[in-house]
Amino acid sequence: MTIRRAWWKEAVGYQIYPRSFMDTTNDGIGDLNGIRSKLDYLKDLGIGFIWITPIYESPNVDNGYDISDYQKILSTFGTMEEFELLLEEAHELGIKVIMDLVINHTSNQHSWFLESRSSLKDDYRDYYIWADGTIDGPPNDWVSIFGGSAWEYDEHTKQYYLHVFAKEQPDLNWENPRVKRELFSMIDWWLDKGIDGFRVDAISHIKKAPLETISGEDPHAPYKNVSGIERHLEELRDIFKKRDILTVGEANGVSAKEAYQWVGEEAGYFNMLFEFDHISLWNRNEEERLDVIHFKKALTLWQEALANGRGWNALYMENHDIPRSVSNFGSEETVFWKSSAKALALTFMLLQGTPFIYQGQEIGMTNMPFRSIEDIDAVDTKNFYYDMLQTGLDEETAMAVIRRTSRDNARTPMQWTAEEFAGFSKREPWLKINPNKQEINVLDETNDPDSILNFYKEVIKLRNQTDALIYGSYTLYLPEHPQLFVYGRRLEQERYVVIINLSKEFASADLPENVRIEEWTLLLSNLNDYEIHQHTLFAPYEARVYKYKID
Ligand code: GLC
Repeated sequence: MTIRRAWWKEAVGYQIYPRSFMDTTNDGIGDLNGIRSKLDYLKDLGIGFIWITPIYESPNVDNGYDISDYQKILSTFGTMEEFELLLEEAHELGIKVIMDLVINHTSNQHSWFLESRSSLKDDYRDYYIWADGTIDGPPNDWVSIFGGSAWEYDEHTKQYYLHVFAKEQPDLNWENPRVKRELFSMIDWWLDKGIDGFRVDAISHIKKAPLETISGEDPHAPYKNVSGIERHLEELRDIFKKRDILTVGEANGVSAKEAYQWVGEEAGYFNMLFEFDHISLWNRNEEERLDVIHFKKALTLWQEALANGRGWNALYMENHDIPRSVSNFGSEETVFWKSSAKALALTFMLLQGTPFIYQGQEIGMTNMPFRSIEDIDAVDTKNFYYDMLQTGLDEETAMAVIRRTSRDNARTPMQWTAEEFAGFSKREPWLKINPNKQEINVLDETNDPDSILNFYKEVIKLRNQTDALIYGSYTLYLPEHPQLFVYGRRLEQERYVVIINLSKEFASADLPENVRIEEWTLLLSNLNDYEIHQHTLFAPYEARVYKYKID
């Protein structure tokens, strides 16, 4: 197999949620100068690019995912000059910068929407999706991903507009060529500034089914990967393809079977996709365990769909929309916390694809013990909470669900030190800091050779310098083993095998002939207080990486 090299295949990514990363103005909200002040930290970690979630002007109903001006920086975060400095300084360190591109919808405060809603005849009316109501109220029964009807009535013009997310996030009308022209020129404007690519938000929702369509079993189906979306995506691809950039689409509703069409090496719309299959398998119910067999199957499906140079994967276990992986896929219990966080690093970092680490994941940050709904900021979580109360659930039971499921778990400020405000700010931040900052923080972990942080550094270093772990093929071993995830990577004669116990119990493996570990050299392990050379007996959450000995 000939290797088709690309910088975005070789680099390890790091997602920054700026509100919670580093605050230099001490207003309790992170900022661009905060990111600049931590570039050395990211360089030292081995990061090749950062993805910054939206920093554009926004009324912040959905924390920046409701954009009111695509070409301005939100003043809470800083200025355009500071952004340009950030870009320059990152580039000097060899770190590329990708931005969030939110083009399914805008804020209801965007000038296009203000115009659009001003009259039925306005020139911008068709920038959004308007429809007359029916005797039952809204034009149809579609529901929003954030809860409630997907339609909002506008008193002024007596029509409804569509919003797949919050009512303050009206959906743009992609059937209008003017909308596309405006968006595409904005994209070019950012790329001309020298940014290195985009994470493309909610892109599988840009095409809507005919409004007569009735919501079926999947209530989001009328606006999720609807046939005809290809035409819009092809146009978008033509804009992207002119440059050597990284593009990763957020692709809820796209299956591994369709992956080739979306990210095929030749004609795909994006370089890679954030798929939702493996991540939806996390444990929403405390009593339930991770279903290791299903988890491996979901990951393997995507690995195989894009194998042999057909396409490329985006690898992740965390982002700003889901709870912390160590809490959901691993264990917060003191005895298991560290080893499970390290084990989870190896479950995704060395697969075929580009790994994305979410801020705080590299130190093993956990879910937040939210006490009341007052502690919550996320709009979808609040809607969900009040819906639960409506159905008769009491507050404590509803809060228990929120603690396990809210995306605010991932949004608590980054824990840099054990100080009062975790070295993030000098005052109470916009979202409470996790009380476990004393045990989990960057400073302490930097000084502890056995820390999760230092383990991540080793894994990143290993991947950065090993072609076989980047470009090699992927093979799943022991697919039916209920505890162990065993996979191989191979490039010509160079072979690696990764063995991870994803359970709290000891696990023994009957490894196949070709992965007899006596013939292999141990490169990396997450346990140093355990008799490692127990060969085929694995301690809870034990994880090892081996390389085949070539004489
Ligand atoms: C994406 C973002 C999420 C946001 C939504 C609406 O799913 O990741 O944070 O709320 O799109 O823009």
